[in-house]
Amino acid sequence: MSTFPSRRPRRLRTNPAMRELVAETNLRPADFILPMFIADGIDEPREISSMPGVYQHTADSLKRAAHEALDAGVRCVDLFGVPLDEDKDATGSQSAARDGVLNRGVALLREEFGDDLLIMADTCLDEFTDHGHCGALSTNDRGQAIVDNDATLPLYDAMAVAQAEAGAHIVSPSGMMDGQVASIRRALDEAGFQDVAIMAYSAKYASAFYGPFREAVGSSLQGDRRTYQQDPANFRESLLEVDQDIEEGADFVMVKPALPYLDVLSAVAERSSVPVAAYQVSGEYAMISAAGRNGWVDRDAVMMESLTSIKRAGADQILTYFATEAARKLAR
Ligand code: PBG
Repeated sequence: MSTFPSRRPRRLRTNPAMRELVAETNLRPADFILPMFIADGIDEPREISSMPGVYQHTADSLKRAAHEALDAGVRCVDLFGVPLDEDKDATGSQSAARDGVLNRGVALLREEFGDDLLIMADTCLDEFTDHGHCGALSTNDRGQAIVDNDATLPLYDAMAVAQAEAGAHIVSPSGMMDGQVASIRRALDEAGFQDVAIMAYSAKYASAFYGPFREAVGSSLQGDRRTYQQDPANFRESLLEVDQDIEEGADFVMVKPALPYLDVLSAVAERSSVPVAAYQVSGEYAMISAAGRNGWVDRDAVMMESLTSIKRAGADQILTYFATEAARKLAR
């Protein structure tokens, strides 16, 4: 006679070897993409106060930190540029200049690493515009200032081509303009960069979780991005954005932020015919760091659990400021 209960799920949890045997989700260092910042006008790396352990880098410290990432098994970094305020203008023209801070950063990393470490560049104007928006401004027929979708596309095209010329393996349009992927794909192809991939920020929400990032890039933004980034209340339009980006030629699609949008991530992962990335954003990093510093949570355990959850929900790649640290932990 079998005793009740005969089905005992706890059997598969009895010891570490058994748990590892049945683990469905396994993080790898190569899952991670490390976002990094290179800044003009600093002689020493500058720690971002709301993101302890994350720095605005000089050329030297950028190289050093990228080596540490690669040594830990990370295979891709995502570079953002922080120009001087005096180099910002209405159309973010330094974004496409060969000697703009971001393009110099891309070039120096490509020279240092060749194809050993993939160099992805952020393809968005907000760091470079004096108004801090992700596109060019114009006025609509009622005299209101708007971020002009179609006037912005050629600026993205020029930026993407400049990044490819500097040596980027991947460009990553994050401005949420309609048609940006098709436009950039055509520009890259016409310039001979058929092999440069596009990671599209497809489902990108107008999120308060980007707060610390604004400090990280010295953002000039007044107001918000709700006319171009998605409303956190909405789910369906993410599927539309993803379908459209794949149709336009995206090689990867992305969901951002990650943890508060795992439902979206899971649906996109099910639907997508291309790899799906998720971005664990600055505010997610800041919350885990702050609670860890207060002794309110075990920082490292929460870091690994959050990354595991993002992968379990369906992410193939995870952009995370924890990349190097988490990769090192996996090696142990
Ligand atoms: C825009 C961009 C942002 C982030 C990445 N790319 C900010 C925004 O959309 O306001 C946020 C990343 C983060 O919070 O970690 N170029």
